[in-house]
Formats: sequence, structure tokens, C-alpha cells
Amino acid sequence: MTKIGILGVGKYLPENVLTNADLEKMLDTTDEWIVTRTGIKERRIAAENEATSDMAVKAAKLALKNAKLEPEDIDLIIVATITPDMFFPSTACVVQQKLGARKVPAFDISVACSGYVYGLTLADSLIKTGGYKRALVIAAEKLSAVTDWEERSTCVLFGDGAGAAVLGPVEEGGILGAALGADGSKGDLLQLPAGGSRMPASIKTVENKLHTIKMEGNVLFKHAVKIMADAALAVTEPLGLKGDDIDLIIPHQANIRILKALAKRMGVDPEKKLYLNIEKYGNMSAASSAVAFTEAVESGRIKKGDIILIDAFGGGLTWGALIIKW
Ligand code: UT7
Repeated sequence: MTKIGILGVGKYLPENVLTNADLEKMLDTTDEWIVTRTGIKERRIAAENEATSDMAVKAAKLALKNAKLEPEDIDLIIVATITPDMFFPSTACVVQQKLGARKVPAFDISVACSGYVYGLTLADSLIKTGGYKRALVIAAEKLSAVTDWEERSTCVLFGDGAGAAVLGPVEEGGILGAALGADGSKGDLLQLPAGGSRMPASIKTVENKLHTIKMEGNVLFKHAVKIMADAALAVTEPLGLKGDDIDLIIPHQANIRILKALAKRMGVDPEKKLYLNIEKYGNMSAASSAVAFTEAVESGRIKKGDIILIDAFGGGLTWGALIIKW
């Protein structure tokens, strides 16, 4: 069977940096609390007139450039986001138009922080059907638009950004396997309650801040470590891979303590095998692992022949782990 791999990656982070010191001036919080509890020092915040599709397009253009391809070479566009420009049209359709791509299928997927892994897996599978040759997968989020800036237990965590990958046939390496999952019974642990058909937007929903992220952080924390470790096993075991065989883990960057606990469970050295950028960007939901993967490629941390595990977990609950040989 044809091997499908990543032909190019790109990322975009808004210029505006919001530091913990800035948050100290806005809320009852401290740099010390945020750093020790989460590992975050600063995060990027998109401009008011900068929507998710604007960030997505910038990341996508760089991914195409690195792949030495043009928008017309793309046969499929998937955008993973929980902060679309609007309900519909999909952000992927907006991106298609802004890029000047052909009238190829374009759609969003809503799986929160697992969006990059789901998107890559979906693109890999669709290309393997033979119907498409090259796909553009973008994970982009403007979480600052759905953050309650007076709620210290959530607003210190999130940031904005986008990462993109162009997928297509490769001679060597490529995606070796993926394991996806979901558990809707725990959906209420992380949600944005209003604005949909269950609770349409009203003056009351706005007054009650129901258009912002609600999270039961400490309950989620406990699930995160186990779910990410189980997802890693679900993808590595069938491939006969052990922790030692993995050269680098690109995890969803939710909390440094979750990631260190994950490394411990997997029996790998976090200093050597864990790619971390949470310090600079916070939690960008789907964009977190996309930006981390892109950075790891750009910085040379990922080398030819390396076995990479991308491992994510998020609202839904959803999770996904994917192995790629570079
Ligand atoms: O993206 C994928 C899904 N997300 C996750 O997986 C997130 C998982 N959860 C977490 O990362 C952590 O649970 C948090 C970082 C969200 C919170 O850390 P925690 O250690 O679980 O803290 P906590 O919620 O149990 O709160 C401990 C204390 C509380 O005070 P009391 O009740 O003990 O007096 C909070 O009010 O810390 C307080 N607190 C803060 N203090 C200063 C909560 N937020 C802040 C803050 N600054 N920003």
C-alpha cells in the first residue's frame, strides 16, 4: 500500500504576548502559581480582527511552501477547530477560498484538543482510498475569544495559534498507525455550553458567560494522564513498538505535570523524549500538538528516520495517538 506522510509543515502564532506578569495585573493570581501548577509562562493572543481562518491560512501557506506545492495541488482540506470563524460556513471553506485552492472537499472537525491527530488520521485514510492525493490538515484555535477573562482557573491556561501539515505519498517513512477514541459520558468536564441548539444565544446566556469555556480541571487532570498513556499503548503495541523505540513524543500541551506523569508511565526520560513548548504558548487546544510538531521539525529536533508519537487528549472527551516515521 502507498505510504502517506507529511510533505511540509507550517505554523503561525499571533505577535501579541500575554505574560503571567500581565495576568497578575488583571486577576488574583501569581506567576509562581501558574508556573508550578501548569508550566505556562506566556501565551499568544490573536488580534481582535484576527479570526481562526486568518491564522489557519498563514500556517497553511507555510506548510505548502515547505512542501514546495501550490494551493491548487491540494485535493482535500480539513480544519480541526473548536473556535471556528462562525457556525457555518466551515472554517475549512473559508480557508479554501482565502488560499485560492480548487473546489475540493473542505470541512471542519470538532474534537477539541485531539483535532490534529484526528485530522491527520482522517486525511491518511482518505488518501489511502485512492480518491485524493494530497491533503491539507490545519489545526487552528482562537481560544481567547471563548475565554472568561475573569475566571482565573481557566483564563491563565489558554492561547491562540495554528499549525498545518500537507499530507501525501512518500517514498520512505510516513504514518505507521493511529488510535482514536472518545467518551461522551464525560463531556461535561470541558465544554462551552451556550450558542448551540440546546441553549441558543440570549441576553441571559451572555450575562451568565455561557459562551466561554467551562472546565473541571482537577477531574480532567486525572483522566488525562491515563487516557494519554492508554492511547499511546493502543497505537504502539500493534506496531510492536516500546517506549524506547520512540524518538520523540509530541503531546498535547495541557499541563506540564500531566506530560511528566505521562512520560513516567511510559517509562521514558522526559528530558530526552518529550517535546515541550507549553511555557511559551499555553494550551492552544488542537493547535497545540500541530504547533509543537511543526516546531520540532523546524528546529531539527525531528530527524530523518525518527519514530514520532503524537498524543492528544481533550474535550468530548476525545483522544488520539499517531505514530509517524520521519
Ligand atoms: O486541554 C485538555 C484538557 N485540559 C486538561 O487536561 C487540564 C487538566 N487540568 C489541569 O491542568 C489543572 O487541573 C489546572 C491547571 C486547571 C488546575 O490545577 P490544580 O492543581 O488542579 O488546581 P485546582 O483546580 O485544584 O485548584 C487549587 C487551588 C484552588 O484554591 P483552593 O480552593 O485550594 O483555595 C483554586 O482556587 O488553586 C486555586 N487557583 C488559582 N490560584 C491562583 C485556581 N486557579 C488559580 C490561579 N491562580 N490562576
